[in-house]
This record gives sequence, C-alpha cells and structure tokens, in this order.
Amino acid sequence: HKPLRVGIAGLGTVGAGTVTVLRQNAAIIAARAGRPITVTAVSARDRTRDRGIATEGLNWHDDPVALAADPDVDVVVEVIGGSEGPAAETVRAAIRAGKPVVTANKALLALHGAELAALAETHGVPLGFEAAVAGGIPAIKALREGLAANEIISVSGILNGTCNYILTVMREQGRDFAEVLADAQAFGYAEADPAFDINGVDAAHKLAILGALAFGQPVDFSALHVEGIRRITALDIAFARELGFRIKLLGIARRTADGVSMRVHPAMVPEAEEIAQVDGVFNAVVAEGNFVGRVMLMGRGAGAGPTASAVVADLIDLARGRLTPIWGAEGDALGQLPALPMSAH
Ligand code: NDP
Ligand code: HSE
Repeated sequence: HKPLRVGIAGLGTVGAGTVTVLRQNAAIIAARAGRPITVTAVSARDRTRDRGIATEGLNWHDDPVALAADPDVDVVVEVIGGSEGPAAETVRAAIRAGKPVVTANKALLALHGAELAALAETHGVPLGFEAAVAGGIPAIKALREGLAANEIISVSGILNGTCNYILTVMREQGRDFAEVLADAQAFGYAEADPAFDINGVDAAHKLAILGALAFGQPVDFSALHVEGIRRITALDIAFARELGFRIKLLGIARRTADGVSMRVHPAMVPEAEEIAQVDGVFNAVVAEGNFVGRVMLMGRGAGAGPTASAVVADLIDLARGRLTPIWGAEGDALGQLPALPMSAH
C-alpha cells in the first residue's frame, strides 16, 4: 500500500515525540492504518539542535509554509504553536493546497477554529485536533463519537497539566511555585510562554474547543471568565488540606437557562471527589450527557509521549479515511446550530 507521507512543522516536544512514536510503533501503526505512515519532511528554526531523533534523509524546511507546499508531503502536522504567525500561516497554506492538517495547537483553534473549519470544509480536507485538548486523553473522539447520541449538558475538568503538576507538588512536597514551574518546563509540559499555563489561558483555550464541540457553536473566547493559579500560595494549599479540600484549576462549560456559561478558575474540591485525586500532569475531562449521565476520562495531559499518541491517532484515522473535514460532530458543524448566548457565570 502507498504510505501516508507526513510533514511535521515544529520539531520540539510534540514534533520530535511524534517522529518517535511513528518510528517506534511503525508496525502496529501500519497495521491499524492499513498502510505505512512515514515522516518525509520536517521544519524547525535551528538545524543544529539535537532533538533526540535522526533527521537524515528528511526534507528540511526552515520555513514551515514551504513544508506545506512540499510535493513529498500528503498531510501536515502543525506543532509549532501560537494563534498567529507561522503556525496559522502553515495551517492555512496546507488547507488551501488541499492537504489535511493535524494540529495540537489549541490557541490557534480557540481563536480561529471556526474560520479554519470553514476553510477546511471549503477545500474538503480533514482537520484533526485530538492532541489540542488534554494531551493523551481521547476527549475529542469521546465527545464527537462516543457521546454523539446525547445532548451535552456540561463538559468540565482539569485541562492544564502544568498547573495540576504545580499544585500537586506544592501540596505534597511544600515546594516553591517558581521551582516547580521550572521542573514542568524541563519535562516539556509547559507552553513556550508558561504565562499561558499559569494564567489559565491554556485551559480556557481547551475549554473553548470542548464547548464548541459539545454545544455545536462557535465560542467567543473573549467572553470566557479566566483566572489562573498565580495567586495561589503554599498557605492556601495548606489551609485547604486542613479543611479536607484540594485546590484544582477547573474549566467548566455548561448549558444554562439562557445559553452557555464557560469559566476557568481555581476551585476547592472535597478530597473524596474523584477529580480531587487526579494529580500531577494528569488531566480529567468530565462530560454529562442527557442519556449517558456522567463520563470521566483521565490521563496524562501533557508531555511528548501522550501528546504524540493523540497526534498519531488522528494520522491513523486519516490514513483510514475516518477523519472528517468538519469541526463538530456530523450534522453539528459550527454554524449549523443556532448560536446560544454566552455568559461568564
Ligand atoms: P516547542 O516549543 O517544544 O516546539 C516548537 C517547535 O516549533 C520548535 O521545534 C521550534 O523550532 C518550532 N518553531 C517555533 N517557531 C517557529 C518558526 N517561526 N518557524 C519554524 N519553526 C518554528 O513546543 P511544543 O512541542 O511543546 O508544542 C507545540 C504545540 O503543541 C503547541 O501548539 C502547544 O500548545 C501544543 N501542545 C503541547 C503539549 C506539550 O505537552 N508540550 C501538549 C499538547 C499540545 P526550534 O526547535 O528550532 O526552536
Ligand atoms: N502546556 C499544556 C499543559 C500542554 O500543561 O497542559 C498540554 O496541552
């Protein structure tokens, strides 16, 4: 069978992780995809950096937009990051060239998802974004497919691995915020600018994507209430603990009588609740459907392996012809349902 030829734009934590997964699990991936999936081209800024992967024989592009035009590339994996600039240009260029895109870029989708989905639909190309929400947890697949029979009442959870890791280590080891953040950066959990993590914006990006899927409508990102963990002190954590609570950064999107409410903020969660026990880099996604009831998924929300696992899942779906060009569930694409008013409360 003809291989699916992949171009990877961005060769950092997720990009290099994707190359490793595709190479190390090549045989199972080929069996599940029905054909081999091979990396043919890559793009990053610094050609001399050791990324822990061999790049000999691959087409190297300093400009990721040129990678999108490479005739040896059938599908573009965008793992550069950022809602504007080279990531956005690369995704648009790939779609316009009729090439499917798989991206882990939640900032891009939260701000321009509806426009990109419309562009992808116009060009009839699939857009995969499993890796953009909660790292290795198959949250997008669960919402689009597993829960497709339900009206979604709410979707919520722990959506940022860096913050959950910081809060966990501060609680368990009494260590200093800045020091634990530096560890999270060294493990590859944090965003290039970690302010996105600790200010709650990254969790809000993911919540906006989940909300768009769950409620079938574009999300006005500026209407979200967003509060991060920057002001949480060791004393807050100790008091919470004494009272039988854990502090968690939660994202909550819910249907209300007058529309949809979406917010991200730290919350005191009773220790006995399942979500209070989701610790470290783990994330949790909780969805409530009108027939299924409550469903909770838990797993590693950041890092090379888990995120690359989600990127490759989209590539396998694509190779099998199972990745659709639309953003929402079938018949639930953005713009097809009447928009619900949004509030931050
Ligand atoms: P990194 O910062 O580790 O990697 C980014 C890569 O993009 C680097 O290889 C960098 O090149 C390249 N790059 C940056 N700017 C340019 C440019 N102007 N032109 C060409 N290449 C460029 O990021 P991550 O791998 O951590 O994240 C990538 C994406 O995945 C982001 O959207 C992030 O939000 C998302 N994501 C990350 C997760 C994680 O756990 N890290 C989890 C889920 C999603 P160079 O190496 O030469 O500097
Ligand atoms: N910086 C993000 C996090 C990466 O810590 O959750 C995963 O999206």
